Amino acid sequence: MNEKVAFLLNQQINKELYSAYLYLDMANYYIDLDLDGFGNWYTIQAQEERDHAMLFLKYMQNNGLKVTLEAIDKPDKVFEKPNDPLLAGLEHEKYVTSLINDIYDAAYSVKDFRTMQFLDWFVKEQGEEEQNADSLIKKYELFGNDPKGLYLLNQELGARVYTAPSLTL
Ligand code: FEO
Repeated sequence: MNEKVAFLLNQQINKELYSAYLYLDMANYYIDLDLDGFGNWYTIQAQEERDHAMLFLKYMQNNGLKVTLEAIDKPDKVFEKPNDPLLAGLEHEKYVTSLINDIYDAAYSVKDFRTMQFLDWFVKEQGEEEQNADSLIKKYELFGNDPKGLYLLNQELGARVYTAPSLTL
């Protein structure tokens, strides 16, 4: 496999694990505020990110590539208001989309069709991730400033359940 593609795939394992760390930090922020439904939503989001990391890891293993695990950065976002994690979440997902696009671009330029096909699932997933993050922001803007609205939104987010990724390797 092309060296740059392999490097970016390996790096993405770390980026996805960092995403899990970031979402766990957000979950902790909400659980401290007793908004445990929001906490549940981000705890499940963190689980999804660990799944993403494992998919990249498995793809590398399946293709005989050496995996190098690097240190995971400390989550360094500061949350002062309950909608701060929501805004940071969308910003972060846009960044992750740009990383996926960079890997796709590198694979495309060397005609690595197998990696492009593997990444197709992530391209679609990132569309959904951005849409979910955007929807949370809009719901909070509509209902979050009213105590009853916030209570119901917290309940709605508390009902999210984990589902394993539809992609298996
Ligand atoms: Fe793994 Fe939220 O992207």
